[in-house]
Amino acid sequence: MTNDLREGARLYSRLLNYVRPHWRIFIGALLATAIAGAMEPAVAALMKPLLDDGIRPDVGSWEKILLPLAVVGIFVVRGVFGFLGDYGMAWISNGVVQDIRNDMFRRVLRLPSAYHEKTPSSQTISQIVNDVNGVSGAATSVVTSLIQDSVAVIVLLGWLFYLNWKLTLVTFAMMGVIGIAVRAYSKRMRRLSRGQQEANALVMHVLSEAMHSLKVIRIFGGEAYENKRFADSTSLQRKFAMKSTIASASIGQIVRLFAAIALAIVIAAVMHQVADDETTVGGFVSFITAMLMLIPSLKRLSDINAPIQRGLAAAESIFSLIDQVDEEDLGTTELSSPRGHIRFEQMSFTYPQAEVPALAGIDLEVAPGETVALVGASGSGKTTITSLLARLHSPTQGRILIDGTDISTITLRSLRRNIALVSQDVTLFNDTVLANIAYGEQHSAPLEKVEAAAAAANALEFIKALPEGFATVIGENGNRLSGGQRQRLAIARAILKDAPILILDEATSALDNESERLVQDALENLMKQRTTLVIAHRLSTIQNSDKIVVLSRGRIVESGKHAELVARNGAYAQLLHSQPEAVLAK
Ligand SMILES: Nc1ncnc2c1ncn2[C@@H]1O[C@H](COP(=O)(O)OP(=O)(O)O)[C@@H](O)[C@H]1O
Ligand SMILES: [Mg+2]
Repeated sequence: MTNDLREGARLYSRLLNYVRPHWRIFIGALLATAIAGAMEPAVAALMKPLLDDGIRPDVGSWEKILLPLAVVGIFVVRGVFGFLGDYGMAWISNGVVQDIRNDMFRRVLRLPSAYHEKTPSSQTISQIVNDVNGVSGAATSVVTSLIQDSVAVIVLLGWLFYLNWKLTLVTFAMMGVIGIAVRAYSKRMRRLSRGQQEANALVMHVLSEAMHSLKVIRIFGGEAYENKRFADSTSLQRKFAMKSTIASASIGQIVRLFAAIALAIVIAAVMHQVADDETTVGGFVSFITAMLMLIPSLKRLSDINAPIQRGLAAAESIFSLIDQVDEEDLGTTELSSPRGHIRFEQMSFTYPQAEVPALAGIDLEVAPGETVALVGASGSGKTTITSLLARLHSPTQGRILIDGTDISTITLRSLRRNIALVSQDVTLFNDTVLANIAYGEQHSAPLEKVEAAAAAANALEFIKALPEGFATVIGENGNRLSGGQRQRLAIARAILKDAPILILDEATSALDNESERLVQDALENLMKQRTTLVIAHRLSTIQNSDKIVVLSRGRIVESGKHAELVARNGAYAQLLHSQPEAVLAK
């Protein structure tokens, strides 16, 4: 319990850190809310003079106007300050939610590849989209109600003590009982909120997977399976929603019941006191009014626990993401215009949570301007080598040098600035053709350069044929284009980047023979002036490479020029024979 409290307080204080920049508005809103809260008992207080002095035959004409006006006045003041308080708090909470979302997104972009490999993207999306909302209640309505109702409760209690301290003690005792009940529920609410978040994430996960696989689902008749999966996740969502409704609805009723018992005791006691002349009618009505006004405030204070627990559960999820450690970047050296000499030294790498190494004892040297082809069966580690070069992962053993500098000592930014990549799974954004080619640090590249890159990638022709040319929006991941067209945009992007090191990972796999030949020419031009690692699905396209490296189960089993390897009649020759097309091209 105390640990829970401490943890809760820690989370809350971190949330409040986000409020700090808005502290002026926060203080203003607090004041407004407190004033609104203090108005609450004024009505009760008014009852005593109204009944004892106001409602009698000889009342003055001045009081006849003043007392009713006072009632309206109290509500006007309460209304104005209540509005200002709500507005200020909403302003802050929306600001806090926005700041937290932005922080989370910024973090997501910096997390290591390993994090994204083990965490489903929908979970991250759900954390940023859903969970943050839980905080907004905790940051505003909670604070508003906490202030307004606490002030109201304190002032009402003060008034009650002043009127009749004995009865007030009864009220206190009941509040104690209510407090115990509320505490018992708070733990449960928090657990339920966490369950609710997980259910939301599951729905999101099933949904996003289905949306990305509509074609496969339809063709392989996966509808029933997907429907069941989705229904299971929504029913989990519903289960948690109902459970938390039961918890919060019942605590509300329990609080009310205790309040009613307190009221009954008060009525009984007052009836007794009136008989003994200890109180007046005005005092009695005022006491009852204050009591009745105390109830909604107490109820709101007891309900406050639900948004607080929701907020804490949300904060827990949010900070678990924000606290993830960034992609390691201990490098301090800037890599500026390298010649592109690459060396892998006794490098081994095992994916986190994998049993066998993906690469073992890799020794490989690529001279500046050379083109080295990586070939081997799928799963032999070709793509992994390129990921390590771009430091998407770090070697478990050994090191990688560029121009003699260990890449782990180079800043990530400058390392990646010098590498251009075209991979098999093309990534395009739902934006214009222009923005897709001139992406990231190239976003302000002049149009002529973009056009030249598109021409070199053999993409200019089809781009010009699009309804709005370079300004055409290409749809989610470019789904309004064919596979080959998408790949050519990716190639144009890499050409525009003009980096000294080029990685082509099955860059032309989606092209037909005809356009592959055209793009191949473009790529060969591109490869001439830079160090290139090329992975090709068709061996016919890499026969002119300066060196061919054959990988098998993460090890280099052969390397040399095409002719040498053919003559050796080893692993490469075997691969070649499995591709009759490549043999013919020879
Ligand atoms: N993110 C990953 N996590 C764990 N294992 C992986 C990951 N990516 C690839 N692997 C494994 O590493 C090996 C090499 O994969 P990869 O380099 O993609 O092969 P290739 O590109 O030659 O087809 C394979 O056995 C594959 O299962
Ligand atoms: Mg691969």
